[in-house]
Amino acid sequence: MNDPMMNTYHRLPAEFCEGSGVRVKDVNGKWYLDFTAGIAVNSLGHGHPALVKAIGEQAAKLVHVSNYFKSDTAQAFAAELVAACSKVGMKNVFLGNSGAEANEGAIKIARKYSLKKYGPGRHRIATLKGSFHGRTITTLSATGQDRFHTDFGPFTEGFLYIPANDIAALEKALDGTVCGLLMEPIQGESGIRPLDAEYVKAAAKLCAEKDVLLMFDEVQSGVGRTGTFLASEQFGVQADVVTLAKGLCGGVPVGAVLAGGKCMETLGVGDHGSTFGGNSLSSAAGRAVLSIVAKPEFLAEIARKGELIKATIAGWKHPQVKEIRGKGLMIGVDIEADAWPVLETALSKGLLMLSAGPKTLRFLPPYIISDAEIAEGLAILKSVLDGAGK
Ligand SMILES: Cc1ncc(COP(=O)(O)O)c(C=O)c1O
Repeated sequence: MNDPMMNTYHRLPAEFCEGSGVRVKDVNGKWYLDFTAGIAVNSLGHGHPALVKAIGEQAAKLVHVSNYFKSDTAQAFAAELVAACSKVGMKNVFLGNSGAEANEGAIKIARKYSLKKYGPGRHRIATLKGSFHGRTITTLSATGQDRFHTDFGPFTEGFLYIPANDIAALEKALDGTVCGLLMEPIQGESGIRPLDAEYVKAAAKLCAEKDVLLMFDEVQSGVGRTGTFLASEQFGVQADVVTLAKGLCGGVPVGAVLAGGKCMETLGVGDHGSTFGGNSLSSAAGRAVLSIVAKPEFLAEIARKGELIKATIAGWKHPQVKEIRGKGLMIGVDIEADAWPVLETALSKGLLMLSAGPKTLRFLPPYIISDAEIAEGLAILKSVLDGAGK
């Protein structure tokens, strides 16, 4: 049968129909342990009672009312989200539907902020080499990897790519034409590569001096993934803009762009909008996620489980394992073999895994994973690595 879907994904051979906790079931009735959380989306796992209840109750009450009006649930979600991001100085939020869309909002804020204050000619956004910011034309342009800059031109003008963790390169780049610096605290898609804290501190200082907006793309690293609500909290800096998506509503589509005091009023009426963004259903899901994930003791558990995974893998001293990186439950492991066959074999043995680059395994399990489930999944992985590359 012809696949009715466009052929845009390199898919692994499984089709899923059900999930519970950290496990998902395929259409043939086989259950798998999920170390992917739908690429950092199912933060509370599958079928979490609080999320199911919130979505069900909200669906029965009100799914959507247009942004011509306020929704009580969306207002409450926005207030709770801003509070959860207050450590890096966030003051308000615009709610959309995806990470790319959130980054589009960030780029618009930086450009308008600068235009109104300094006039034209200062519209460029610096991003990091190896970054990933989304699949729209503009967020592809923002992505600092050449392989994304083919086939779809003309791309949006006005981005420059600088090497990560190189403060001299940043200093040189901020030449009076740049209005924003957009970066992932931990580069996700290109291999789980954390930024150096010293670099981020120096970058924050430089951005503040030059009035360049410091913008963190926390689409993958945010919402507790690294053991603090935002990964950028761990740098001890104040941001101007933060973007979130993925895990924020536990699987219901969402994107959020948050702004700090300096640019919280940059976008005004008519500047930005979204039909679905911040609707009552996604907001109810987001409130359920926040009510669990934003708690310090829950975040501490994420950090602890991440250390457990890293220590266990390091303890194997496995000849396949070259380097282990990451924070909390956002972990990358470089291996000698190609990653894709490892994912295929892991799948056949009942474990869902991700890659991040050709030879990097990526761990993004749901936060609710237990120590026993970690041990079970890692035992499967070890058995796969034992046979890898042979
Ligand atoms: C850091 C980062 N930014 C942006 C995006 C794009 O998010 P979305 O696919 O929701 O548009 C992703 C997706 O992987 C991401 O990891």
